[in-house]
Amino acid sequence: MKAKILVVDDAPDTLEVIERHLSAAGYSVITVPGVTEAVRALEATGIDLVITDQRMPKASGMQLIKHVRQNYRNTEVIMLTGYASVPNAVEAMQSGAYEYLSKPFTEQELLSAVSRAMDKLALLNIHRFSGHLLSPQECGLIGNSKVMQKVYRAIDKAAGSDATVLVSGESGTGKELVARAVHYNGHRRSAPFVPVNCGGIPDGLLESELFGYRKGAFTGAHESRAGFFQTAAGGSIFLDEIAELGLPMQAVLLRVLQDKTVFSVGSRKPAKVDVRIIAATNKKLGDLAQSGHFREDLYYRINVIPIELPPLRERGDDILLLINSFVDRIAKEQHKTPPVFTDSALRALRSYPWPGNVRELENVIQRLLLMADGECIDAPDLPELMRYKFESAITPCSTLSEVEQQHIAAVLTHVNGNKSQAAAILGIDRKTLRRKLEQHGEKRPSGGVIPRYNHR
Ligand SMILES: Nc1ncnc2c1ncn2[C@@H]1O[C@H](COP(=O)(O)OP(=O)(O)OP(=O)(O)O)[C@@H](O)[C@H]1O
Ligand SMILES: [Mg+2]
Repeated sequence: MKAKILVVDDAPDTLEVIERHLSAAGYSVITVPGVTEAVRALEATGIDLVITDQRMPKASGMQLIKHVRQNYRNTEVIMLTGYASVPNAVEAMQSGAYEYLSKPFTEQELLSAVSRAMDKLALLNIHRFSGHLLSPQECGLIGNSKVMQKVYRAIDKAAGSDATVLVSGESGTGKELVARAVHYNGHRRSAPFVPVNCGGIPDGLLESELFGYRKGAFTGAHESRAGFFQTAAGGSIFLDEIAELGLPMQAVLLRVLQDKTVFSVGSRKPAKVDVRIIAATNKKLGDLAQSGHFREDLYYRINVIPIELPPLRERGDDILLLINSFVDRIAKEQHKTPPVFTDSALRALRSYPWPGNVRELENVIQRLLLMADGECIDAPDLPELMRYKFESAITPCSTLSEVEQQHIAAVLTHVNGNKSQAAAILGIDRKTLRRKLEQHGEKRPSGGVIPRYNHR
């Protein structure tokens, strides 16, 4: 059965655009111009998801959300806000909206938010009816490799406890997905999961964003406001890019973890909070703690349950499973028949080192599908770098030294000639790399492809 979505906005243009995108994606859509009509529509028919504007002439989106929360347990809400602002977002989530979407948004952003809300609905329903815990796969994590099995076991352990979790891994490895899996597999699943990008909020604002402020705390604080911690009450807060926290905020966070209390800015009264902290970083936090760039005592408080995500290049055939799943999903979003990948294209994708991990893979598949004009994707359709690696790797008459030379060239091209990065990827030190480059000199490999060194 098609999921039913009610869209509420006083702007006919917005209603029309949203209806067009959602109907094309296979949802059944009802549009209404205001809250009164929305309340009537909710009474008349079962609605899975309400997407509502925040400001409307008669009654506000906030009032509608309260109405939905009080009367309909199986209906999710997405709030549209006029401009990206943290107070709006906090208010939207506090009143019970699962997601908020700032205008203007792209079709992709709309569909992703809707699909996340639908996933949440499905999760809640599974819990309501069966009461069993979800596997990480049900939370959207794909992969069967041994290294990922280890991650699933760690998620399971973390979900069963309330201890602080530190998710680490290179950029694009799925840290946020893991954090969501921990939250939605645990007992806090029906309370909010609130993501905060510590690197994205200026230092001076972070404290009031996290803990809220009291009326009059500073110029412009005309009324008291809750912060992300209060919004997450009973649920989890996801502190992304935790290594970006400045030392003063680290001290504040340490106190929160020790005392389980927060102070709103401008208030002397501590308030108890029941929030589980899940932190993430793509840095080596232990090393930063040792070198004095991150408080060691805070590091130990955060790193109670560590979950380390392996880079994609260490996950073997998981790459193929991910390609399959992305191709199916993206083809559906683009209203295309999923194309077939030739063996050589798949081999090339499988042997590429994916420095941007799953996110890079997802983007590559998205681009390939956008550009694809036939039913088949072959090695020449792939980005140049992947083709090069593949073509050079299969030259059957190469000597070991030539293969080494070609591989070094491919890695150097990939990192734009940066020798430190190349040496790190190759697993050798810079000196060894320099020696090998000198050894190979200006010799060209025998394969048809001439490596592009970009000496820096
Ligand atoms: N195992 C996986 N299965 C399916 N999709 C995945 C998996 N891991 C990551 N993804 C997808 O890859 C993208 C990046 O994931 P996510 O945002 O969780 O990574 P991240 O580690 O937080 O990245 P960053 O360090 O850049 O913030 C998302 O679109 C996510 O859905
Ligand atoms: Mg992330």
